Formats: sequence, C-alpha cells, structure tokens
Amino acid sequence: MNKKFIVANWKSNKVRLEVDEWIRAFNFSAENQDKTVIICPSYVYLPRLRQAVNEGKLNVSLGAQDVSPSGFGPYTGEVNAMQIKDYAGYVIIGHSERRSQFHEDQEILSRKTERAFDAGLAPIFCVQGKNDEVPSGVSIVAYEPVFAIGTGNADTPQNAQAVAHFIKKDNPQVQRVLYGGSITSENVKLFANQSDLDGVLVGKASLDPIEFGKIVDSF
Ligand code: PGA
Repeated sequence: MNKKFIVANWKSNKVRLEVDEWIRAFNFSAENQDKTVIICPSYVYLPRLRQAVNEGKLNVSLGAQDVSPSGFGPYTGEVNAMQIKDYAGYVIIGHSERRSQFHEDQEILSRKTERAFDAGLAPIFCVQGKNDEVPSGVSIVAYEPVFAIGTGNADTPQNAQAVAHFIKKDNPQVQRVLYGGSITSENVKLFANQSDLDGVLVGKASLDPIEFGKIVDSF
C-alpha cells in the first residue's frame, strides 16, 4: 500500500524562536512509521530543521515551498534546486498562491519541475482542478481548490475523491494525490477514508504542532 503523505506548508510564517518551539512541541513518534510527514518551512529555516532532524534522528522529511526555474547564475533572490537539495528532498511547485500572486504560468511551472528533477528533488505539484496540466514525470499531485484555501470551507471529501480519481486516470504516472484546503483535525478523517486520496497538504492547521500531530495521527 502507498505510504500516506502528510505535508505541513508553513507558508510565510514563523520566526526562528517559533520554529524551535514547534520542534520541541511536535510529537515525532514512531506512530508515523506508516506515513511520510513532510515539513515545508520558509527557505531560511530549512538548515535549522535539517539540523534538528539529523541530531534527533526525527522521523520526518523536509521540503521547500518553491524553487527557482533557473539554475546557478545571476538570478538575484532566487533559490535553486541544487541548493534546496542540500537540506530537503521535496519541493512544492505551483501552489495557487504562487500562481495568482506571483503570476506563475504553466511554462514557468514546467521549468521549475525540470529543475527539481535535475537536482533529485521530488515535486509536490499543485493543481486547482481536475483539468489542470500535470508535467510529465510528476508522481505526487496536490489538489487544492482555491475556494478552500485558508477559508475554513473545505471541499467535500466526495468531490476531492472524484477529482483525485480523475487525475490518476488522466495521468498514469501519478501515484499519489493529496488534498489541500482547510484541513483540520476535525475533518481529516473524512478525507482519509477516500480511496484515491493518499494524504493531505495542510496550511494553517500545520502551524500548531499539537493540531498538526492530531492530523498526522488521524489520517
Ligand atoms: P490551508 O492551506 O490549510 O490554510 O487552507 C492549504 C493549502 O494551501 O493548500
């Protein structure tokens, strides 16, 4: 059976002290053996998390929230896939906030995906609906409908299941579809019960280590 993926997307939140508090409070217990937990902090805290994970032999993986579409070179402000690879194994690409606020189109997203593959990072490619294009080679997709993100108004588990089923049918290389959008410890079980959903991408509720721990345990 596919290992379930539970992704924490902290977005542009937390300062160093809060990152340390989160690490102290989260229960990195062996209960997560049948699940892959992936924490995606701001770039600047990836080294801190990598250090904590290595020192404490913590049972979690790390991911970045974005990646440059370019490699090394004169791209001020960009962080490239090879640099991320020093600290993390995953990268979120095409989050709806990147698409809408930073005008990322399919061409940019394809380039980012290529850079990720070149560096050996696994993309977690976000789509907003069943007809969004998934770049070739991508095996992890997150379905995150815009109306559900940060609104407290999650999609229905039935609709998320239908979209996930469609995505897998349309893209045979996709092995996992995660759902993202107002997941909490209260509603996560309903999504976990859907046969084509292989995990969740959690924004707001992942900021609290106790609430996120409940979500991990419940999926
Ligand atoms: P949210 O974010 O959990 O805060 O709704 C989810 C997402 O960004 O996909």
